[in-house]
Amino acid sequence: MATIDYDQKIPNNVNLSGDARLQRALEAWQPKFLDWWKELGPADSGGYDCYLRTAVSVEPSGWAHFDYVKMPDYRWGIFLAPAEEGRLINFGAHKGAPAWQDVPGEYRSELRRLIVTQGDTEPASVEQQRHLGKTAPSLYDLRNLYQVNVEEGRHLWAMVYLLQAHFGRDGREEAEAMLERHSGDPDKPRILQAFNEPIDDWLSFHFFTYFQDRDGKFQLAALAESGFDPLSRTCRFMLTEEAHHLFVGESGITRIVQRSCEIMKENNLSDPADVRKHGGIDLPTLQKWLNFHFSICLDLFGQELSTNAATYYTMGIKGRYEETKIDDDHVLDGASYKVPEIQGSKIVDVDEPALNAINQRLRDEYYTDSQRGVDNWNKMIAQHGIGFELVLPNRAFHRNIGPFAKVKASPDGKIITEAEWDQSQGGWLPTPEDRAFVESLMHAVTEPGKFANYIAPPARGINRQPLDFEYVKFH
Ligand SMILES: [Fe+2]
Ligand SMILES: [Fe+2]
Repeated sequence: MATIDYDQKIPNNVNLSGDARLQRALEAWQPKFLDWWKELGPADSGGYDCYLRTAVSVEPSGWAHFDYVKMPDYRWGIFLAPAEEGRLINFGAHKGAPAWQDVPGEYRSELRRLIVTQGDTEPASVEQQRHLGKTAPSLYDLRNLYQVNVEEGRHLWAMVYLLQAHFGRDGREEAEAMLERHSGDPDKPRILQAFNEPIDDWLSFHFFTYFQDRDGKFQLAALAESGFDPLSRTCRFMLTEEAHHLFVGESGITRIVQRSCEIMKENNLSDPADVRKHGGIDLPTLQKWLNFHFSICLDLFGQELSTNAATYYTMGIKGRYEETKIDDDHVLDGASYKVPEIQGSKIVDVDEPALNAINQRLRDEYYTDSQRGVDNWNKMIAQHGIGFELVLPNRAFHRNIGPFAKVKASPDGKIITEAEWDQSQGGWLPTPEDRAFVESLMHAVTEPGKFANYIAPPARGINRQPLDFEYVKFH
């Protein structure tokens, strides 16, 4: 089961040929997916040979195979992590019962909603990033972008498989709708707002893969705990791919920070305007991009207090991050959890039922996880002897969901007036001038081994290839 069958039209390790109805349904969806990819996937890239990894097995050891692939020929397929013998439902009202292999009828609409919401983000990110290929800072970065894009396409396959295999006619309709909603479309937008923002510059791309893909990691990890075993197995394999996306983001920002510091040191600069004149991205501008992406990602975790999240938990269909490692009863009867609340002009943490605070707990864990990379970037800045620290903005800053949506707050968490916000926000979030500056740096660098001036080369190449390897061949 671990080995993937590549002789099929749709590569898979789920014995698709043993289910003629499902195979027909997915084979009917496949050309629509390819049409979507050609229309809204990476722009003008169809003829390029890209050095991509393809999954050949779902075993933890050596599942990747690297070779030149034209992206439209990438073998998108359906790969589930190996089944765990005797797996149980580990939380909620059904704790201790065997995990479900089929959708429990009474939870059908909730499960469908979770799968659709996750699935929708996958093609959305491909659409958001579709023009980045024209301005890649190196062939190495271009290849990483395309790798992320094809894998997000595969993640859509993963969710569409679940819908088609387990939700009958509704599932088929949802699969169609995945290709009908489009990022930023005023009539049929993607479901979550952070996935309707265009990602048109490489600073945004690297923050996106740091912050948005990290949201993906936490959502997938919570779904991997699901008592619905096919969802759990699907998400577990997606998480192994997600790790590379997070690497792209963290190392990408590290390289931009490094280059900014080098430009400052080499030329003895401290004024951000001078860093810009030397073609680097000044650290205050990096902070603005960080503020934007982190704050819109906090919204992705939903309401601070959520009865939906409580319901999903009690049903056993979406757990907490690393559920089985948490030392409690996994039912959360009478348990409490601190949730922020606005009292006058203050933000206060108050005890609320832990069941209603499931979203908040995941957001807190995301916050902690996000901090790690920021600490590393700050270490690098300090090593250059530069007195500047990047900081994650307060959870109240620039929020559109939950109690903080009703107020304005500064990045350090002070509640402020509308007038103060209007006056200060240009110092906190990217302005049109900032965007125009960053855009002015975006030019394709296509000579192997060469990198744009604003980003340092990576420490090493992909799959032990040298940095001047021809990661993408344009012909
Ligand atoms: Fe994904
Ligand atoms: Fe991802």
